[in-house]
Amino acid sequence: MASLKGKDILHGNQFSKRDIDGMIKIASDFEKELKKKDSLTLLKGKILATLFFEPSTRTRLSFETAMQRLGGGVISMASAEGSSAAKGETVGDTARTVSQYADVIVIRHPRIGSAKEAADAASIPVINAGDGAGQHPTQALLDIYTIHKELGSLKNLVVSMVGDLKNGRTVHALVELLSLYQARLHFVSPENLRMPEEITSNLKKKGIEIEETEDLEKAASGSLLIYMTRIQKERFTDLTEYERVKGSYVIDGEFLKKLKKKTTILHPLPRVDEIRPEVDVYPGAAYFRQVRNGVFVRMALLAMILGKR
Ligand code: NCD
Repeated sequence: MASLKGKDILHGNQFSKRDIDGMIKIASDFEKELKKKDSLTLLKGKILATLFFEPSTRTRLSFETAMQRLGGGVISMASAEGSSAAKGETVGDTARTVSQYADVIVIRHPRIGSAKEAADAASIPVINAGDGAGQHPTQALLDIYTIHKELGSLKNLVVSMVGDLKNGRTVHALVELLSLYQARLHFVSPENLRMPEEITSNLKKKGIEIEETEDLEKAASGSLLIYMTRIQKERFTDLTEYERVKGSYVIDGEFLKKLKKKTTILHPLPRVDEIRPEVDVYPGAAYFRQVRNGVFVRMALLAMILGKR
């Protein structure tokens, strides 16, 4: 799987099944190795730069953990305010600058297309950790790794994706990967937060079966995997509109009783109120295992991009 060496990671549609199989194998090897040792030396001397112009807990910290567990170093810009972006520096110039310090860049920014801009300007590989309501390809890879681990296979998947499908960059990226496996998809959202038409028509062209509905109970009863998402408050220009749709879908103890046994529940997190804390003890609640998998998958990605796997 040398094919990712030196590559930017910008969009969920850039991966082949072969890439994903390779990534799963490498990530699971790292997972096993970390059971024996706290850290490895594979990327000793390499430096990761994390540039986050939007809030993040898991994505930034798991990339930094991944790099350090591989023996590499990290330099980090955790907010626009603390950097020259606050003085008006462009994303391109920031990426050009950081290329002089680091070996790989991870960037999150509120504008769609910003990671591509950084990649075009940088002389080192750039990883998109979320560009506005656009894409979040590394989250999709860790989601796929988690699905593979929890369900044992990526075949015959029927997935309910729930919540803010319009603005959710995680689902925009994940459907690209699921389409490689001909998954059947239920899109569950309020009418005004439907999956963008461009994405659904593209999936249909690939022969993917899609059902769009506002009815979570109906969709969930037919699928063994529920992917919940947060209503993306920060993308709303009209907050009264947000107030109207927030809390549209909530999984609680009562709702669990209606699910098929062995239904797996994923969520990229953070959650607001869409999964109640009482659900956390349900065996199929896999979202904190999903968090942990982020480290192994990001280790695999860094090793592949830097040509060490
Ligand atoms: C997601 C994101 O930032 O897009 N979080 C994450 O990376 N795990 C989801 C969200 O913010 O709702």
